[in-house]
Amino acid sequence: MPQIRHSFIDNLIINADRALRTLAAGSDMTCERPSPALPLAEAELSTEERKKAAALMRVNHTGEVCAQALYQGQALTAKLPHVRAEMENAAAEEIDHLVWCQQRIDALGSHTSYLNPLWYGLSFAIGAGAGLVSDKVSLGFVAATEDRVCKHLEHHLSELPQSDLRSRAVVTKMLEDEARHAEMALSAGGYKFPGPVKGLMTLVSKVMTTTSYRV
Ligand SMILES: [Fe+2]
Ligand SMILES: [Fe+2]
Repeated sequence: MPQIRHSFIDNLIINADRALRTLAAGSDMTCERPSPALPLAEAELSTEERKKAAALMRVNHTGEVCAQALYQGQALTAKLPHVRAEMENAAAEEIDHLVWCQQRIDALGSHTSYLNPLWYGLSFAIGAGAGLVSDKVSLGFVAATEDRVCKHLEHHLSELPQSDLRSRAVVTKMLEDEARHAEMALSAGGYKFPGPVKGLMTLVSKVMTTTSYRV
């Protein structure tokens, strides 16, 4: 298929549209793969369990909002066309995760994080900045971020109510996808970030997860 070349203004509009659709409550975004929760029955949860599951899925949803922003920012500034295409592909896959998390939050009767616009802006800037430095740094950032996300998801699997099979199925599938994204970024030439950089990322993600869990 011939590659469509967008002007700077086109890219601004496309990015603003994607940002609004990512952040809008009840967004019209649709997933390509149906949610892994669908074949499973909704569990009878206590009020406490429901609250906890919703809070954890809210954190995961914010993580996916950040993933959208990060990939969009990177795709905007990536230098090599194949890296740009890879970023756009990954961002499209993350839409499935975003929609699945939103559906779980709705079913659990809760809301997405009020701080999502803030995290979107920050992640977009980081993604665009990494892309400006180099594609190797940009891909390395994806690998390090996805690595971090996998650790969160593993932790959430130990925290989610055992009976909430639907949320657990979503998190399990996401974990599988994110691990593949991390591998893809490294094998595409991503730079392996040193310990201190990863430490800083852990700190930022801690602030994000703690705040999204509550609001
Ligand atoms: Fe994701
Ligand atoms: Fe991912």
